[in-house]
Order: sequence, then C-alpha cells, then structure tokens
Amino acid sequence: MIFAVIMAGGSGTRMGGELPKQFLPLCGKPVVIYTLEKFLKCGKIDEYYIGINPGWKELMEELIAEHVPDSAKKIHIVCGGGDRNATLYNVIKAIEADFGVSKEHYIITHDAVRPFVTQQMIEENIELVKISGAVDTVVPAKDTIIESEDGATVSAIPDRKRMYQSQTPQSFNLSLLKETYLSLSEDEKAVLTDACRICVMRNIPVTLAKGSDMNIKITTPGDLIIAQAIAEEA
Ligand code: CTP
Repeated sequence: MIFAVIMAGGSGTRMGGELPKQFLPLCGKPVVIYTLEKFLKCGKIDEYYIGINPGWKELMEELIAEHVPDSAKKIHIVCGGGDRNATLYNVIKAIEADFGVSKEHYIITHDAVRPFVTQQMIEENIELVKISGAVDTVVPAKDTIIESEDGATVSAIPDRKRMYQSQTPQSFNLSLLKETYLSLSEDEKAVLTDACRICVMRNIPVTLAKGSDMNIKITTPGDLIIAQAIAEEA
C-alpha cells in the first residue's frame, strides 16, 4: 500500500506566534490543508496520515471536517513526538497497527509547511521508492556551499556541482526505514536532521528525485510572504 505522511507535529518556533505555522492561512485555507489537498489529488495513494502535536489534534479534526469532508475516512491523525523523526516513528507504528506489517508498504513523507509540492514530485517519489526503497527530493545548489567547523572561518568549499539541497517528499519502504531507525543508537538518533540521514548512516542508497525552487519550506515570517505571492500566482 502507498501512504502519504504529512509531517505537521512541529511548533514553529522560528516563525513565532501562538498558532503553529502549518495552521496559518494561505490564500484562504490553512497551510496544512493546502498541502494535504495536493496529496488527495494524486490517485495513487491509499491512505493519508498526519503527525500532529497532541494539543492541536482537535483543530486538525475540525479543519478536515470543514475543508476535505469527503476524504475524512482515509485521513488518520497521529500524535507527533519531540522531534521530526519521533513524529515519523509514531506514524509508522500507527500504520502498522492499522494495516499490518508488510514489506510492500511505502510512505511518501512530506513537510506540512511545503505547500507547493507538485503532482510530478509525488508521482516520481512513488515510482522511485518502489524500485529503490529510499528517495529524497532535491534541487541542485545554486549558491556555493561552504563548510565552517568553527562558525568563523571557511574550512572547506565542496564542488558546487556535487551539492544539492534536500526538500521533501522523502519516501521509503516502511519496513526498511523502521528496521534501520531501530538499529541506531541514541547518540546516532540525536544527530539526525531528517529521515534520509537514517538510511545514509547505514549506507543504504537514497535515490534522488527532482524538486523545485518553488517547493519552499515556510520557516520564517518572510517565507510566509513569499508563499502568499506564489499561491496568488498559482
Ligand atoms: N515536524 C513534525 N514533528 C516535530 C517537528 C517538526 O512533524 N516534532 C514537522 C513540522 O510540522 C514541519 C516539518 O516537520 O512541517 C519541518 O520542520 P520545521 O520547519 O523545522 O518545523 P518546526 O519544527 O515547526 O519549526 P521550528 O524548527 O522553527 O520550531
């Protein structure tokens, strides 16, 4: 089965404000609904999971009932964890509790706050994950990336042609990701920034899918202004 996993369990500290950024309005609808609708449009997904901070579960239920009532039966809300991978792990456990353990379960994970994901990205992720088991959506780095070990001076300048910026969707064979995550030590888990790193830490190949400069992540108030402009053009 194919599962969409919308990651909406964060609290948006860099954005600030009372309401986490995934619930802020974008062209008249909450960002998380704008994003969810992109996945609902793709005819190849069986079920939808949303990872949510427990304090916002009721609001999420209300938003589903208001904006996408016809799909409500296929949308499952799961309580998120202390960091992004903990949220993802809670969703994985919920999927297996609801639909059983299978080597044929695939998850297409996506940040709730990347509302401009395209059908092409979702479909390419689905195609590739069935072949390779792990997929990251990326764009080639436009700026030269520099590495600084002390935060004050340049220690290395990797060749820009080999540098990419990682976005989402990130997609996985569910059993592969779960087994790999469980094999990590607590120290290894502590330095994880995203789910692809779980695979990279254990030398599992992650295939690249094509992202887009428009597939921005809403992180700061400035990003919200840019997102509003993109949404108005769309
Ligand atoms: N996320 C999640 N569970 C967490 C933390 C983050 O599902 N425990 C989700 C966020 O809701 C977001 C995505 O992961 O959709 C990307 O994370 P980020 O932009 O860092 O969101 P926040 O953690 O909310 O932001 P901040 O780091 O500014 O607090």
